[in-house]
Amino acid sequence: MSVQSAIRRRTAPDIRARKNGDPIVMLTSYHAHTAALVDRHCDVILVGDSLGNVMHGFETTVPVTLDMMILQGRAVMRGSQQALVVVDMPFGSYEASKEQAFHSAVRILKETLCGAVKLEGGVKMAETIAFLTARGVPVMGHVGLTPQSINTLGSFRAQGREEGTWQPIEDDARAVAEAGAFSMVIEAVAEPLARKITETVAIPTIGIGASPACDGQVLVLEDMLGLSPRAPKFVRRYGQLGPMIEAAIEGYARDVRSRAFPGPEHVYAMKSKRD
Ligand code: KIV
Repeated sequence: MSVQSAIRRRTAPDIRARKNGDPIVMLTSYHAHTAALVDRHCDVILVGDSLGNVMHGFETTVPVTLDMMILQGRAVMRGSQQALVVVDMPFGSYEASKEQAFHSAVRILKETLCGAVKLEGGVKMAETIAFLTARGVPVMGHVGLTPQSINTLGSFRAQGREEGTWQPIEDDARAVAEAGAFSMVIEAVAEPLARKITETVAIPTIGIGASPACDGQVLVLEDMLGLSPRAPKFVRRYGQLGPMIEAAIEGYARDVRSRAFPGPEHVYAMKSKRD
């Protein structure tokens, strides 16, 4: 008997085939329970290194490790059934050489069973992307604002807001597409530039603070749910979970202090002799 699941997960080639098609819907998730909810509505779940900010309270994604990504990638795979799960390669796990990138990517694929990895960078990473894709590792690129480079960039400012600065970003996008990536994230880039890149490259672009013309969109789940205390300008809040969670915690604390919780329905009676 086959042990394969009846539900077929989306694959990197499925997403690659969505260029100029129905918009690709992607959200981040780092846990099994949120992955199950996201899975019902999204094509791609990104286990982003933004987990460093969201789960661990780091100011940047620089401290995130491969082990942290693998642990949460496994949780998301267990919680989801249909979406393509993409796991971010964290800072320091792929930049030294294409061989280092291959070993890190293989650990991610083998230990999480996810369908693809994502890495930041354009022209400088093109050789690495080609090396990985030629060896069976589907790669999602990430151009524009690349948060792992915060220490050389100096700030998380949007990119390409003056036309004179467009060329290197266009070169990055072209290099990622030509190297064999199956799609690319464009983060925090002037709208006309993101639109132009989307019209020019052959693979789907997935925007975050980019353009409605992109082939898909991604947001950090906790940002759009209203759980993150601060969120960038490009986030639309689809919920206000922060205040809802706080009200629930406040109610619980009040009930414990007044002995209103637990109630009779929450405690175990003694077994009767006949049971
Ligand atoms: O880590 C992340 O959440 C990301 C998205 C911002 C695209 O890379």
